[in-house]
Amino acid sequence: MAKQRILVSDPISDIGVDLLRNHPEIEVDVNTGLSPEELLKIIPSYHGLIIRSQTKVTAEVLAAATELKAVGRAGVGVDNVDRDAATNHGVIVMNTPTGNTISTAELAFTLMLSAARNIGPAHAGVLAGDFPAARKAYKGIEINNKRLAVIGMGRIGAEFAKRAQAFGMTVVAYDPFLTQARADQLKVELAESPDAALTGADVVTLHVPMTDDTKHIINADRLALMNKGALVVNCARGGLIDEAALKAAIESGHIAGCGLDVYEDEPPSADHPLFNLPKHVSFTPHLGASTNEAQENVGIQVAEQLRDFLTTGEIRNA
Ligand code: MLT
Repeated sequence: MAKQRILVSDPISDIGVDLLRNHPEIEVDVNTGLSPEELLKIIPSYHGLIIRSQTKVTAEVLAAATELKAVGRAGVGVDNVDRDAATNHGVIVMNTPTGNTISTAELAFTLMLSAARNIGPAHAGVLAGDFPAARKAYKGIEINNKRLAVIGMGRIGAEFAKRAQAFGMTVVAYDPFLTQARADQLKVELAESPDAALTGADVVTLHVPMTDDTKHIINADRLALMNKGALVVNCARGGLIDEAALKAAIESGHIAGCGLDVYEDEPPSADHPLFNLPKHVSFTPHLGASTNEAQENVGIQVAEQLRDFLTTGEIRNA
């Protein structure tokens, strides 16, 4: 059998790449940082493609990928793949839904605490030699006894909720797939709608995929439903939040601030409107899955899935 050629176009862990390299029926090329034009040029000779979030697998790429059988996403979100075009071309799209659950929940939780306690601006104040001024400026907010709304109660949302409960928060969750039995098991209140979850919430954290239905799920009207002084946390996808509405709500004093790992446009420009807010803000550059553990997990999972599909036809997580 001719070798199955796999292109790894975004960085994944060495252990995942080695797993493919060591397979006698597979040839693997790691070629990251390709421009869209470069990808179009080389994609026709590959049977498998492994990506994270940088590579955009557009309809044009899929049309050019005449030999392609599968795209493997090392991570959860597949919004950088045109899935309709993939289906039309008979290309399977797989993700690795479990490998970065804990890392993403931990970062989201960190961003909540960081925004509540002004860790980013206070850190900058200390480094700038402004210790007394920073001490005075950055009075924080406790999260104990606060009401947390989790929008999207899948794996990551549930891990966030567990941590929040350990910190004394009460949790209300909205997820169209959340049953009363599962809500009871997680000891969370089940909300019938995003509006119901957000009404009276002190913190919201988002753990849903980016789709036409979830775009701007956090908008001006929904921010207004939250308690005064609330915090907004997002480690999922930037487009879930209407950033202009969030900025206006923070400037009005209704929302205290936000902890964001993701942005409507990535990478965001340095003059992003939210970046000049003085306090209760914490920003990271899409690091949810960026831990040793998560990258090892998703790198191995995606490599195994592509290997098994291309060599035996077994499909997992498609
Ligand atoms: C995900 O969807 O799992 C993350 O965006 C992963 C990543 O950062 O690559």
